[in-house]
Amino acid sequence: MRAVDLIQKKRDGLELSSEEIKWLIEGYVAGTVPDYQMSALAMAIYFKGMSTREISDLTMNMVASGDQIDLSAIPGIKVDKHSTGGVGDKVTLILAPLVASFEVPVAKMSGRGLGHTGGTLDKLESIKGYQIEVTQEDFIKQVQETGVAVIGQSDNLVKADKLLYALRDVTATVDIIPLIASSVMSKKIAAGADAILLDVTVGEGAFMKTVEEARVLAQTMVDLGKAVGRKTIAVLTNMSQPVGTSIGNRLEILEALEILQGKGREDVTEFICELAQIMLGLADVEKTVAEVRQHIENGAALKKFEEMVQAQGGDLEDLYRPANVSHKVDVLAERDGYIVGLPALEFGLFAMKLGAGRAVKTDELDYETGIVFHKKVGDAVEKGQPIATIYANENISENMLTNFQKNVKIDDASVNTKEIIEIIS
Ligand code: URA
Repeated sequence: MRAVDLIQKKRDGLELSSEEIKWLIEGYVAGTVPDYQMSALAMAIYFKGMSTREISDLTMNMVASGDQIDLSAIPGIKVDKHSTGGVGDKVTLILAPLVASFEVPVAKMSGRGLGHTGGTLDKLESIKGYQIEVTQEDFIKQVQETGVAVIGQSDNLVKADKLLYALRDVTATVDIIPLIASSVMSKKIAAGADAILLDVTVGEGAFMKTVEEARVLAQTMVDLGKAVGRKTIAVLTNMSQPVGTSIGNRLEILEALEILQGKGREDVTEFICELAQIMLGLADVEKTVAEVRQHIENGAALKKFEEMVQAQGGDLEDLYRPANVSHKVDVLAERDGYIVGLPALEFGLFAMKLGAGRAVKTDELDYETGIVFHKKVGDAVEKGQPIATIYANENISENMLTNFQKNVKIDDASVNTKEIIEIIS
């Protein structure tokens, strides 16, 4: 076989056979198919798409390109969760211990943030001592003993995705359904859980800008999971504004603690309890949302979170430490009305520029910086009331403040928002 012939075949809109996909992925990981040919193929896929069979072959060959985690030593139905990326997305920090507090084991490998989106690992690393690099043995032992672990993905898991994702990132081929679906599902399948909850984010701050596209991605991933015997449910969630009230690593840990203490915003607390209910259902534990919420109110979920932090070397005193920044700047409402828009992408980029995110993979993070919103979409505001506080370790210029203000949309009439748009199973 020759890569050039397969690129041409896809470029001309034809289906690649199972053998051809296998040959391409194996060759890419072995280094015999070079980056320049793989990027041409990714672009051909971008324009011509892939059939369901091709996506499934691509996914399973990617799974086979690295280690596969065996979680069978952990008793019970192991559940995992994945988000397709967002701004202020601290859901895993609350959801994982909340689900584990019902004795359902959560063995989760998370990722880092890039661009305007944040990553759970970066948030956890803002806790002094928290170890994200854990051996497979210790990972399993921790889930057996504590019921929950959130660690970094091992270097050998889905090697093809590591290479391909880095290539897609610099060749404008990230936001295409067959490649996102195979990237996400290869990692989830290789990570070994029996059941998977997919949080497919929709809106201006997400890869999927419309509900229609998100629905196709979600169904594709659900079908891939089910085809290999993993119970899979996708939830389309709203990413038109940041999740919850904070963006930034330490700030999001603090918000997660507030939610776990029952002191979080009502809408985000309810949303996470609904996700937990679905995740528990995947493990055959049927609970009402009110029953799930009890584990926030009685401290069981918070206790689990603290146990996880301690098990991974995190310092419990540091966990509760406020963000340490040199500048806190309040942004005030310029008029009376209702907040009708807080564009997630714009505020994600703003927080990135404060140091809370990375423009490129090698950027160093400032764990302390970010934004805390005092008002969210749908809330009433009066002129002069604080809408947000910027946490920075540098002066906030007039220009930056004007840019921030420009993105706070206030109008006379309120709008309704909902976090869960649709469930796909
Ligand atoms: N998240 C992933 O893991 N892969 C993608 O391709 C997009 C989002």
